[in-house]
Amino acid sequence: MYEEQETPGRLVGPAAIPADAEENNLRPRSLDEYIGQDKVKENLKIYLKAAQRRGEPMDHILLYGPPGLGKTTLAGIVAAEMGVQIRITSGPAIEKPGDLAALLTSLQEGDVLFIDEIHRLSRQVEEVLYPALEDYALDIMIGKGPSAQSIRINLPHFTLVGATTRAGQITGPLRDRFGVLLKLELYSPDELCRIIRRSAGILGQECTEEGAYELAKCARGTPRVANRLLKRVRDFATVLGDGVVDGETARLALKRMDIDSLGLDQMDRSMLRAIIEMYGGGPVGLETLAAALGEESVTLEDVCEPYLMQMGFLTRTPRGRCVTRLAYGHLGLTPPPEEPTRGQAPEENGQQSLFDR
Ligand code: ADE
Repeated sequence: MYEEQETPGRLVGPAAIPADAEENNLRPRSLDEYIGQDKVKENLKIYLKAAQRRGEPMDHILLYGPPGLGKTTLAGIVAAEMGVQIRITSGPAIEKPGDLAALLTSLQEGDVLFIDEIHRLSRQVEEVLYPALEDYALDIMIGKGPSAQSIRINLPHFTLVGATTRAGQITGPLRDRFGVLLKLELYSPDELCRIIRRSAGILGQECTEEGAYELAKCARGTPRVANRLLKRVRDFATVLGDGVVDGETARLALKRMDIDSLGLDQMDRSMLRAIIEMYGGGPVGLETLAAALGEESVTLEDVCEPYLMQMGFLTRTPRGRCVTRLAYGHLGLTPPPEEPTRGQAPEENGQQSLFDR
């Protein structure tokens, strides 16, 4: 079963950590404040306006994409823009159908229910969710055996916002009940630079354009990582510098934290090196690789791979993971001589979507 894995102390890991409670202060509260994800934002604006004009609750929304890209933030914005309350929970926290029933009956008309990691709902809980999504109703069985009776309880009209890093693991019937499917993409360095400068403003931290850009380049396309780097570099600026996050302090701090010029940390580099040194550059199966590195395969898959693939350092093929010549170059290693080109099947060109598995 999937769990959002996080290596303790991994600064560039995308998972939320408790110490990141301050992350909440940095979250944008409206779509106008939200930087990046332009396509998602523009479409969402239309859907929200249309629902408001019709005086209806927003249709159910499924957000998917790698961790740390702002799924919880967007759910909060949907609630704020609709002027309703949000209840936040997660798939594994809803253990029994009764837990979901209690949540649903506590909602007010129009409220947003946010379920993170929705692919981890149990089958029994999912079955309770179907009539709730479709008919705003709960079907409850009373009694057992031949005298058992089903009674229907009406629910307020609510909006479910589901979030997942694994669109492929959502069952068909659940996916079909969402009216809006939105895929979040990794952010560009320019977008992350704007996010860092906005966050620095909220934190009252002076941060130059150059300093912000140095961090943005290393933030793995993820605002959560960008904001975490900003806070750590602020520490270096406070103790070792003149209090300003500028290019020089940023470069010094990143070096001290073992984060390289492209944002790769020890774990990413170990993964690439293991494929090169132990498996001749690949292909190697994910489970084999995870065992060799002493990591969980989901950690490699969800935390390292999206970024390594985006950087063009890693490809997924039907036979396993392969490193690219670019990765050899980045690690300062010499790639093996190029093989004469053979016809390459399209699925072997590493261009698979992050979520096709
Ligand atoms: N902080 C975290 N994510 C953000 C975003 N997308 N826009 C602005 N600030 C953010």
